[in-house]
Amino acid sequence: MTEFQREKFDMLTLHKVLICIFGCMFLYDYYHTTTPVVVRIRDPKFSILGPDSVNEIVVNDTYDQLIDIRNFSFKINPQTCRDYPAGLLLVVLVASRPTNFKNRMVIRSTWGRSVDSTKVVFLMGETNKPKIEQQIRNESQMYGDIVQGNFADAYRNMTYKHVMALKWVVHHCPTAKYILKTDDDMVVNSHELRRFLAKELSPWGTKGLITCQVLEHAQAQRSNKSKWRVSLTEFSAQYYPTYCAGWAILYSQDVVPRLLATAQSLPYFWIDDVHITGICAQMIGVARTPLSSLILNKHRTNLLTMFGPDSVGQFLFGPPDLNLDKINTIWKAIPE
Ligand SMILES: *[C@@H]1O[C@H](CO)[C@@H](O)[C@H](O)[C@H]1NC(C)=O
Ligand SMILES: *[C@@H]1O[C@H](CO)[C@@H](O)[C@H](O)[C@H]1NC(C)=O
Ligand SMILES: *[C@@H]1O[C@H](CO)[C@@H](O)[C@H](O)[C@H]1NC(C)=O
Ligand SMILES: *[C@@H]1O[C@H](CO)[C@@H](O)[C@H](O)[C@H]1NC(C)=O
Ligand SMILES: *[C@@H]1O[C@H](CO)[C@@H](O)[C@H](O)[C@H]1NC(C)=O
Repeated sequence: MTEFQREKFDMLTLHKVLICIFGCMFLYDYYHTTTPVVVRIRDPKFSILGPDSVNEIVVNDTYDQLIDIRNFSFKINPQTCRDYPAGLLLVVLVASRPTNFKNRMVIRSTWGRSVDSTKVVFLMGETNKPKIEQQIRNESQMYGDIVQGNFADAYRNMTYKHVMALKWVVHHCPTAKYILKTDDDMVVNSHELRRFLAKELSPWGTKGLITCQVLEHAQAQRSNKSKWRVSLTEFSAQYYPTYCAGWAILYSQDVVPRLLATAQSLPYFWIDDVHITGICAQMIGVARTPLSSLILNKHRTNLLTMFGPDSVGQFLFGPPDLNLDKINTIWKAIPE
């Protein structure tokens, strides 16, 4: 380094330290001047953290193992969280197909716009098409928000993608207070979500939280026509354990390494939401807390786009399976 570079580097470091100090002062002040958090959940199964209680994270994970893949590696691995030692409020992991370039562009320009308390990354496996792989490398160079693993991106490989997300958080973004796993055909009301996390939950995070649309007594599909058909060898019981719909799952920081350790030790099961938020969550003994009305249904989505945000009340997530026009339309109806 030249003298000039060193000076620049020192200034940058000083800058970051100052930002962190002011951030902490602001949070501390905020915590002591606002009324206690109101979470409208009766008898919550998770606990709210404050400045004196933090999550102790113990990492015990074999980096190059992904369930039964023994030579796992990240083909693309952005260091998204490195410059935030004090921890991001939220990291959002969006499951995406390699070819869904347009979905990612729409998300980057709508609800996934980068802000300093929240980072968004897209998760994908690899393809056997060199042209698409080249386009993805190009996209990654432009935006730096793609996490790619060395497994084939395929429908039945969804669980690899979800566990890769947990692994990436544990190794590369362990200080994020909240972790959202979602899909690239969703709308997240990101302003409201940040407000909800920092004010109704806590800017220091929570412990033992998995919240989502909770599904109970769902039957394993046995019909040959079902997209979700599972054989008896894949899953033998008639009903799935209580689990989360996979398109919007919010984890607290402490839950992720525990889910990862469990998922790494169990046989592969391809329905990722059932596997991670049902089977693994049950094994680590973390309850699934329903988001209930904080998720828009189709009806409230129509109200929102026709009559504006006052007509639907508070919400954090839109419905799943949206096309790109719908994502744009819903986002335009959401106030800043
Ligand atoms: C780490 O995980 C391995 C394999 O699951 C286990 O054998 C070992 O006891 C764990 N170590 C700690 C410190 O938890
Ligand atoms: C990983 O191992 C599998 C099977 O053992 C092999 O087919 C594949 O080529 C290996 N991948 C890499 C990147 O080494
Ligand atoms: C690289 O990405 C940019 C932005 O997405 C795009 O405009 C450009 O056409 C891409 N180039 C190649 C060779 O894919
Ligand atoms: C899932 O990924 C593994 C590892 O890349 C690959 O061997 C397997 O064929 C993939 N599964 C499907 C259904 O493509
Ligand atoms: C499903 O397909 C298998 C063979 O692929 C067949 O043996 C079985 O009878 C079918 N079950 C139903 C319910 O159609």
